[in-house]
Amino acid sequence: MDNLVPEDNCNERGLNILKKSLACTDQPVQTNASHVFVILGASGDLAKKKIYPTMWALYRDKLIPEDTKIVGYARSNLTMEDIKSKCEPFLKVKDENRSILKEFWTMNSYVRGQYDEKADFENLKQEMEKLEKADQDNNRIFYLALPPSVFKASASRIKETCMSARGWTRIIIEKPFGRDSESSEDLSQHLGRLFREDQLYRIDHYLGKEMVQNMMSIRFANQIFSRSWNRDSLACVVINFKEPFGTQGRGGYFDKFGIIRDICQNHLLQILSLASMDKPPTVRADDIRNEKVKILKLIPPVVVEDVVLGQYVGDPDAKEEEKRLGYKDDKGVPEDSVTPTYAACVLRINSERWEGVPFIMRAGKALNEKKAEIRFQFKDVPGNIFGQRPKRNELVLRVQPNEAIYCKMMNKAPGMSFTMEESELDLTYKDRYSDARLPEAYERLILDVFVGSQMNFVRSDELREAWRIFTPLLHELETRRQEPIPYKFGTRGPKEADELAQKNNFVYTGTYEWIYEDV
Ligand code: BG6
Repeated sequence: MDNLVPEDNCNERGLNILKKSLACTDQPVQTNASHVFVILGASGDLAKKKIYPTMWALYRDKLIPEDTKIVGYARSNLTMEDIKSKCEPFLKVKDENRSILKEFWTMNSYVRGQYDEKADFENLKQEMEKLEKADQDNNRIFYLALPPSVFKASASRIKETCMSARGWTRIIIEKPFGRDSESSEDLSQHLGRLFREDQLYRIDHYLGKEMVQNMMSIRFANQIFSRSWNRDSLACVVINFKEPFGTQGRGGYFDKFGIIRDICQNHLLQILSLASMDKPPTVRADDIRNEKVKILKLIPPVVVEDVVLGQYVGDPDAKEEEKRLGYKDDKGVPEDSVTPTYAACVLRINSERWEGVPFIMRAGKALNEKKAEIRFQFKDVPGNIFGQRPKRNELVLRVQPNEAIYCKMMNKAPGMSFTMEESELDLTYKDRYSDARLPEAYERLILDVFVGSQMNFVRSDELREAWRIFTPLLHELETRRQEPIPYKFGTRGPKEADELAQKNNFVYTGTYEWIYEDV
């Protein structure tokens, strides 16, 4: 396997990461190939906040071949200087890395063009050819950081004009992958006519987060957990996503989608499938994705009775101006909008392992804190012998902030007393792995694209199942124009969501809080 890695171009650390990733992929990383990374939508928000900073971090850490060239493409009349000044506030640059940054920008160029004009894509092709060497394989990656309206056209133009004649071509796309089963299928069909599945990398950036990636090890490398991962031991599973800010000027865009499409149908469902799937035969991408599809197929569509929706309103007493504004105050949001900014929904898995174990998703904007976590709540201990009833065990994977795994458990109060108290087994990353740098999700995922590992990307059949689960609900809510419950900016969301969780086996005692320092 070693000779498949571009040894000349990466340092040892990069090599090791590539080698490890190669264990999970069928695709060889080629030696002596040139790489061009094209960012379509280079003038946009995603490019400046995520993609350029990611390419910088990968370049700085020598994780991608050193001579990778980056070409920005967008409609605006921009120079590289403009791109640089847009991006630099988002790059994390230490003083000692200033010269590497200078070098990094020399690897970049910019081409102006429309997303549906063949002639403009011909220009892009010429630019790429200028950067490539004729006697080598030329690998090309296209990142479509584009609004959905130009998705299809630009994919067609890439296929017509920009495919590598010698080397591979890979396409990275970002949600929204449609807004329901039908529109998503239409997009999938279109892309499927142009590219093979192994050329398509559908990003769900939650799959690049440390704790989401850790789910495989936690579940399948620990006997203590694997034996209890089922309806015999677990009462319910809760997947929480909370943000302490509102739509912040993105309201016009958000209003067309809402929180179910923005968070539940993708990020939280991906977590759910990794948390509930059976053990794959190997860690190869398609073996894992087959298991994910299998579990998704066992989930019936979510019904409206299993859902609580909310929409935030301003808190007139808040100190910060942002919190005094509600969702409908955001520009672009219609006054009569019924788009939810909060959703709690219960999913059920019709399988021998999971029947009777509700999977409760809760996602909201403008809440009291930033948090994403997966909480496995165990059943009560049968045959209690103590005066006090033991509180339920919980295994929590905290995705962010401050990654941790902790297990809530009963413990004898230390000392003479024989009473019990709630305590925890605690694996807080910043204590246990204080020297580790956890890369940004996008860094891992874009590196995966270079390596050719599709393990952390969404396959078309997974996407189809995800939409099957949510589309009937979304259509019904839209037909009914169901009014979401108002909740104040900065609170926990509608109390009805807590009631829904309680009805679905979740016991909240309020007597225990895992203490952590925000970092
Ligand atoms: C995006 C959503 O996919 O994820 C945003 O569109 C959300 O609405 C974001 O804010 C959250 O990502 P993270 O990595 O900050 O938790």
